[in-house]
Amino acid sequence: MKDNHMSNVNNVKAFKNIDGVKHLKNIFELTDLSYQVGDKKILKNINLNIEQGKYITFVGPSGSGKSTLMRILASMISATSGEALFNGKKISSYEPTEYRRRVSYAFQQPTLFGKTVKDNLEFPYIVRGKEFDWEQVTKFLNYVNLDESYIDKSVNDVSGGEKQRIALLRNLIFPPEVLITDEVTTGLDADNKEIVHNILNKFNQDDGLTILRVTHDDSEIEQATDKVTVKNGEVI
Ligand SMILES: Nc1ncnc2c1ncn2[C@@H]1O[C@H](COP(=O)(O)OP(=O)(O)OP(=O)(O)O)[C@@H](O)[C@H]1O
Ligand SMILES: [Mg+2]
Repeated sequence: MKDNHMSNVNNVKAFKNIDGVKHLKNIFELTDLSYQVGDKKILKNINLNIEQGKYITFVGPSGSGKSTLMRILASMISATSGEALFNGKKISSYEPTEYRRRVSYAFQQPTLFGKTVKDNLEFPYIVRGKEFDWEQVTKFLNYVNLDESYIDKSVNDVSGGEKQRIALLRNLIFPPEVLITDEVTTGLDADNKEIVHNILNKFNQDDGLTILRVTHDDSEIEQATDKVTVKNGEVI
């Protein structure tokens, strides 16, 4: 009897796994997802599947709910109703530290912490119990047109555009499965924007990184191939 019971449990699991494999292409599956604060419905019954490896650009008016949606996908806040799955499992079921390694959120106005650039770029190693890898960090700095000399620079001696790029490297040194960029190029000059575009394209194309980008930038919107519009808390 006990054995039968066990095999039933296993069957159920196996069935779920098979089902999961079928849906593996969708890295996110949102069903009737809403987010409400008091009486205010900020996101309304969103149904959206996001396929693995895509580079999706989220557009829509200010206040429409884009960042709120990104915060839900990054597990910084939870939907108030509906379901949000990452790789077939509820976002809320993941251990937060593990989830953050897999789904990384790059903020619009990043702050560098500590005293030096190294304090920031060393952080991803420290949280993983690894030694700072000078060679690897230099390689990543080169990706964003910065050189090795930046490692020992004071955080007060780097420009806004450099800060933005260094912060992005914090998200990418150990590449996540999903990178969410919320208006990360706002306020950057054309050269800095291009550097950011290049590194994101590289990771998307070479490593299959799924990217969700929120932007108001006309040229980015024009060049985007996959667009999702959020308006009044709805995906249209
Ligand atoms: N915790 C909260 N409590 C109350 N209102 C909130 C909360 N979080 C967000 N909002 C409101 O929800 C709406 C959507 O905000 P959100 O930041 O998601 O918009 P957005 O599309 O990212 O806008 P922008 O393009 O200006 O960044 C706004 O009206 C905002 O004021
Ligand atoms: Mg926003």
